[in-house]
Amino acid sequence: MKYNLSELREIIRNRRTIKPEDFSDRKIHKEMVVEMLNNALWAPTHGHTQPWFFKVFVDGGLTKLGDFLSEIYKQQMPSDKFMQKKYEQLKARPNMATVVIAVCMKRQEIEKIAEIEEIEAVACAVQNLHLTATAYGLGGYWSSPELMYTSAMNVFLGLGPKDKCLGIFYLGYPKGEWPESHRRPLEYQSEWIES
Ligand SMILES: Cc1cc2nc3c(=O)[nH]c(=O)nc-3n(C[C@H](O)[C@H](O)[C@H](O)COP(=O)(O)O)c2cc1C
Repeated sequence: MKYNLSELREIIRNRRTIKPEDFSDRKIHKEMVVEMLNNALWAPTHGHTQPWFFKVFVDGGLTKLGDFLSEIYKQQMPSDKFMQKKYEQLKARPNMATVVIAVCMKRQEIEKIAEIEEIEAVACAVQNLHLTATAYGLGGYWSSPELMYTSAMNVFLGLGPKDKCLGIFYLGYPKGEWPESHRRPLEYQSEWIES
């Protein structure tokens, strides 16, 4: 064995979604964020386009993000569907974390690689980031409200019209127990073809 497989398995299986409401106020150090992002860069990428881009919100940037998300929700939601609770949640959540990362896909100018593959590459980058967070004892939360894919979001993040924000990734130390999860067994999710 070249690496410690049991440790790798532990990290993969203990990677957990933990929402900002369940974060403690313990601060995440900048070096840890840099390590997580540097690992994210090592995701596979078809044609080596490296389509990921990370907008990192900290300190006053967190309030700026919460204000934007809640206001754009208010603007874009028809009044009969608007929920005050959702508005307040979008506004408050970034400040419950010490770091929030807008995960973006920057579309290659010549569009040689299919868009879905660029999105897949960014998703792999997020997994690298989240696994590194797990190794630090941090929970992460990939949030993708509908407003994620609006042009207002692109303008806010300084993205071009063909780029996409794929989610808002919240990071934090859990204030309670590390949560458990489960998966359907492999027999239900795979098929072996032998002849
Ligand atoms: C592309 C993507 C988008 C997601 N968006 C949301 C979301 O908007 N809201 C949410 O509660 N969870 C979201 N999640 C997180 C899932 O809810 C979470 O991964 C799932 O519950 C499994 O939990 P685990 O990550 O702890 O294994 C998203 C996950 C992915 C991969």
